[in-house]
Amino acid sequence: MADLTELDRKVLWHPFTQMSEWEPLVIASGDGNYLVDTEGRRYLDGVSSLWCNLHGHRHPRLDRALRNQLDRIAHATFLGLTHEPGIQLAGRLVEVAPAGLTRVFYSDSGSTAVEIALKQSFQYWQQKGQPGKQRFLRLSEAYHGDTLGAVGVGGIELFHRIFGPLLVRSVEVPSPAGTDGAASLAQLERHLRSSASELAALVVEPLIQGAAGMLVHPDGFLAQAADLCRRHSVHLIVDEVATGFGRTGTLFACEQERVSPDFLCLAKGISGGYLPLAATLTTEEVYGAFLGKRSELKQFFHGHTYTANPLACAVGLESLALLREATLANARAQIPLMAAALDRLRSMHGVREVRQRGLMAGIEVEPRAGRYLGAEICDRARAHGVILRPLGDVIVWLPPLSVTPDDLVLLESATRAALTEAHG
Ligand SMILES: Cc1ncc(COP(=O)(O)O)c(C=O)c1O
Repeated sequence: MADLTELDRKVLWHPFTQMSEWEPLVIASGDGNYLVDTEGRRYLDGVSSLWCNLHGHRHPRLDRALRNQLDRIAHATFLGLTHEPGIQLAGRLVEVAPAGLTRVFYSDSGSTAVEIALKQSFQYWQQKGQPGKQRFLRLSEAYHGDTLGAVGVGGIELFHRIFGPLLVRSVEVPSPAGTDGAASLAQLERHLRSSASELAALVVEPLIQGAAGMLVHPDGFLAQAADLCRRHSVHLIVDEVATGFGRTGTLFACEQERVSPDFLCLAKGISGGYLPLAATLTTEEVYGAFLGKRSELKQFFHGHTYTANPLACAVGLESLALLREATLANARAQIPLMAAALDRLRSMHGVREVRQRGLMAGIEVEPRAGRYLGAEICDRARAHGVILRPLGDVIVWLPPLSVTPDDLVLLESATRAALTEAHG
């Protein structure tokens, strides 16, 4: 263990981490909703291994699906070839996705799923004789990933400001979070009225902006924004990288507002949290604009080496089946229990606000000058058996969808203890 920690410090550079203050915690295994470190200590995976685990770790059905696929082939390119798990999963995604989304373009992360939607929307307009439609609308505080295209439609100062000179600039619409949405919709409509001929698409996280700190949108915002986009012939790109696959209580968040976007970006939970996989779904209308003779060069020139990795697709197929058979129903049953737990923390000293949508929640603490309280509270929660990760001053609760009532009791008690200690 000491050797591993030492080697980590010597050779590694971890994401979103100030390495000079990094304290390695080496995970040795997973067991259902728990992570186990090299000392044998168990921790509830309170952030679903960065929001992607649905059914817990080492689920027998997912493990079996993966092993079965390993007996066939681990990887074959999707550029010019195809394979059964890639075809079957795409078929299932089209069946369960909002109506009208009939084409699946695979990639391997949430960021690439968004990049692909941006590029497809842009190229669509170029090929449909509207080359002026080149810009994207996005919400303030938006987060759509860390590759440059995705950062270009991001609005989180802390992560994105420094890269400003490198980016394709987008047009900001104020987030409707914490309001009735009217001002945001009015601003969106103004942009659409004045500049639809220059706008390719609006990009949104539906119902809740996760990385911004779990900012909840008012009901009806998504449906009204979708309607405005449709009326002004501007694409709607819905980024369900975080909200997809049951996280908000329905398979996809946009179902709750009966919205069928032009593009749906999926990643994270698509493989149950096992392997990197993503998909960008779109319509026959968009797909059709890329058809023609080879010599016309209308095809979509984009692809990644591990696009549609067969292991990831095989586990994704099984994960989707399991989600619809059991895990989604479990998640729905736990949502009110999580709400009750959050409610009990709401009145604690130092808690500014709690916000929740489905099994996604944030506990915002009062900031303290000179202290990274969110990080401090999450560090303290480890000693009480829960892995948490903050977003600034917001403590995120995002357990696997297979979370149990007992797990929620632990999540609440560990958070309570950590909050008390931090404010002591
Ligand atoms: C809404 C949203 N979009 C995109 C991403 C980027 O996904 P990835 O980290 O897989 O690139 C995230 C990651 O948290 C996200 O929450």
